[in-house]
Amino acid sequence: MAHVNVFDTTLRDGEQSAGVNLNRLEKIEIAKQLERLGVDIMEAGFPASSQEDFEAVKEIANTVRNCSVTALARSYKSDIDTAWEALKGGAEPRLHIFLATSPIHMTHKLKKTPDEVIETAVESVAYAKEKFPFVQWSAEDATRSDYDFLVHIIEKVIEAGADVINLPDTVGYATPVEYGKLFNYVREHVKNIDQVTLSAHCHDDLGMAVSNSLSAIEAGAGQIEGTINGIGERAGNAALEEISVALEIRKDHYDFHTGLVLKEIKRTSDLVSKLTGMQIPGNKAVVGRNAFAHESGIHQDGVLKEATTYEIITPNMVGIDSNNLVLGKHSGRHAFKQKAESLGFQLTDSKLKEAFLSFKDLTGKKKEVTDGDLFAILTDKQTENEDVAKYELKAFQVQYGSINRPTATILLTRPDGKEVEKASTGEGSVEAIYNTLDELLDEEVHLQDYQLSSIGKGRDALAEVYVQLTVNEVTTSGRGSAQDVLEASAHAFLNAVNRTLQSNEQPVNKVQA
Ligand code: KIV
Ligand code: ZN
Repeated sequence: MAHVNVFDTTLRDGEQSAGVNLNRLEKIEIAKQLERLGVDIMEAGFPASSQEDFEAVKEIANTVRNCSVTALARSYKSDIDTAWEALKGGAEPRLHIFLATSPIHMTHKLKKTPDEVIETAVESVAYAKEKFPFVQWSAEDATRSDYDFLVHIIEKVIEAGADVINLPDTVGYATPVEYGKLFNYVREHVKNIDQVTLSAHCHDDLGMAVSNSLSAIEAGAGQIEGTINGIGERAGNAALEEISVALEIRKDHYDFHTGLVLKEIKRTSDLVSKLTGMQIPGNKAVVGRNAFAHESGIHQDGVLKEATTYEIITPNMVGIDSNNLVLGKHSGRHAFKQKAESLGFQLTDSKLKEAFLSFKDLTGKKKEVTDGDLFAILTDKQTENEDVAKYELKAFQVQYGSINRPTATILLTRPDGKEVEKASTGEGSVEAIYNTLDELLDEEVHLQDYQLSSIGKGRDALAEVYVQLTVNEVTTSGRGSAQDVLEASAHAFLNAVNRTLQSNEQPVNKVQA
């Protein structure tokens, strides 16, 4: 069986999803989990796009040791230099440069002739190769490019030193047969193609990203690119968990495998969903809530008699473990620490102590504290920046009645340590809380989006709220979990505001790739 490299771009193309806005600590947490998942290459960001992205890429490159860390650059020397500064401490520094090759992009976006595009591509690859041991070159919008032009430019960038050639279906336009043909065409016509690995990068605008990636593998791609949960620009990228499980389950058909540790899929998917706020649809293949649920009586009967009647993937294979050890109110600090480690968390002593207190608090309110609850508590603690002063909710009260206008009273500690209190009303309880917080904060805040979900099942399940705000014109997001929906709502709002204070976030110049 041939090995196919997995190139994960959750932290770059995935982070380009509308509304997604990860901070440095969250990116590092995802990077560590991607390393555990066993990706071969992770694209950590686009360092030239903002100081924050630069810092995050640098820290990831310096932290991750078991896979190659790469970053995106436009075909500018300054982008390449910035990427080198961010990546040079990595285990295997690698650069990803792109330039559009389709007539639409060359004419309207780049405003360059095909010859100028070739010259720019060759120059940038040669320049990158002076610094980086590995250089990947992407022909943006390859699937809408002229095949013979592609052959010509690919030959030239290979001569200039490229190690990997990526043929992105940037706008998700190709069909599986066409995409496979493109790979075959390039393999048959580019005379120095044996010197490089071919890579597939598919977007899901027509819902064909995974099928297209599988088709590329069959046509000679030695690397597939994608994201966890398929997040990404517009309709997203190819979902890596779907591709890797498809190769495993259908190994009778595909003679290829990835090195992914399939048991890490569930945790990776949960972490990415939680930190990005992009909920996983219940019917999503491999990781959706219903992917292993059998609803009809006939199916249930069949599965009870023999699981393979209706189940082609076992939940266990992707890390869904129904025999979780549940912690309760008698569990001590040691058991809690062990559990946290078994869930993949390595917290500092002070964070572990605080997480333990939150856990103890929850055991007083909830019969069983599940892995989902612990995952929420531990992730929140792990990604919290302790070093910066912030707004903190001290106490709040909401008066609600079907014939009264809801009123919220909130006591808050400000970043300067002062306590302030106010009451205000709204059409609903959440609005009353948000109006009151507005009055208590110095920042100018506008709510853009609000999502509510529950962690696990049952009446006493934790509520999780995800909000998107603009704070002083900077778009940001926040999350909060609590047993009470209103408390979770208040925490999410303050979390978003605190994030902008902690990061001095500037509007991020995300590349539209
Ligand atoms: O979709 C795309 O073309 C990209 C490139 C930057 C590789 O993401
Ligand atoms: Zn892309």
